[in-house]
Amino acid sequence: MLNRYDCIIVGGGVNGGSIAYHLAKKGKKVLLLEKDRLARKASGAAAGMLAAQAELEEDGPLFQLAKQSRAMFPILAEEIKDLTGIDIELVQKGMYKISITEEEEYHLKHIVDVQTRAGEQAEWLSQDEVRSREPALSNAVRGAMFIEKDGQVSAPQLSLGFLKAAAALGVEIKEYTEVTSFLFESGKVTGIQTNHGSVESEHVIVAGGAWSEQLLPKSQIPLQTYPVKGECFSVRTHQPLLTGTIFSHGCYLVPKKGGRLLVGATVQPHTFDQTVTVNGISSLLEKAKRLVPNIVHAEWEKAWAGIRPQTVDGLPYLGEHPAYEGLFVATGHYRNGILLAPITGEIITRLVEREPTPVDISAFRMERHTEKII
Ligand code: FAD
Ligand code: GLY
Repeated sequence: MLNRYDCIIVGGGVNGGSIAYHLAKKGKKVLLLEKDRLARKASGAAAGMLAAQAELEEDGPLFQLAKQSRAMFPILAEEIKDLTGIDIELVQKGMYKISITEEEEYHLKHIVDVQTRAGEQAEWLSQDEVRSREPALSNAVRGAMFIEKDGQVSAPQLSLGFLKAAAALGVEIKEYTEVTSFLFESGKVTGIQTNHGSVESEHVIVAGGAWSEQLLPKSQIPLQTYPVKGECFSVRTHQPLLTGTIFSHGCYLVPKKGGRLLVGATVQPHTFDQTVTVNGISSLLEKAKRLVPNIVHAEWEKAWAGIRPQTVDGLPYLGEHPAYEGLFVATGHYRNGILLAPITGEIITRLVEREPTPVDISAFRMERHTEKII
């Protein structure tokens, strides 16, 4: 490890990886530090859905950010493959947002209407139409909003792909290195302190997921985040049960390479505990069985849990700390950090370069909660 870099990134998840990759493409000398192993927290646990229209539904700053990021995946998939040989397993076979109740059907038809009026592709499929496309679905399904552009990737492969592509472009990456504090001089960041010594840089980017708030200096402008645990499981079948992703209230099923089917996810706020519980997995299995009854014949693979970084207003933090020049924050991506990783890397790189960002990021600035009282 040298003692001076253009940029230091804290966190070896998908967002740290994407930022490292985008900075390295601009020729920056970058150090990325991870306190544990790479991509073992939320980014290794995620289902990999690129659900801009299914998760976010209505127009707004986050919807625009998500759509722009989703559009970056096809080129990224090629770049990562060329640099590292890693296949991020991009699948563009659409997403079915399922209704089971009359109320859900009414709501989803309204969202189809809102999105098509905003110029997005979205269509309503009747029960017969959706079951003819996905015959494994049960007749509990009343109909579905079909979103052609909401695809999926392998979240662990994308995360490792970014990190290995960054390393191929010269980024230095250290595992088991915890950043414990920052070094400042006259309101500017000058470096970091780790459990293995200090390192200098005029640009430090905090991409520590749900742990970011604990690390940032206590100032008048704190992050307002909380952890949200999610449990998932996966099974295997000889013939794939599904073609597209099935997204329903409290449960989604994502068909992966090699006959794997990923089922997620529970939502438990205010805990950093990553235990997989019988209660969590059995509640998911009940919901999955209701949607796809034949899942009971599948072979069990594994179960796991991860911690999503959520913010009090549901919007991520993307920007420079208003009290410390050169200290940048990229966290709070909650349920959409895989989807938002490409645009996050692009935005932070532009901010470091003091260039205009590709989208308006004023809704994501850190000082948004406090500016009225300062
Ligand atoms: P993380 O992946 O948590 O990485 C942060 C890293 O920083 C960690 O490795 C941590 O050890 C490290 N770190 C923290 N503090 C320090 C420190 N002081 N020093 C050094 N290192 C530090 N998103 C989607 O878009 N689509 C999905 O389908 C999807 N499904 C999900 C399903 C589940 C069950 C969960 C839990 C999440 C899901 N998400 C999904 C959300 C997504 O996983 C997260 O938003 C995203 O992974 C956050 O990435 P990150 O890099 O910001 O954080
Ligand atoms: N985006 C899916 C999840 O966070 O569970």
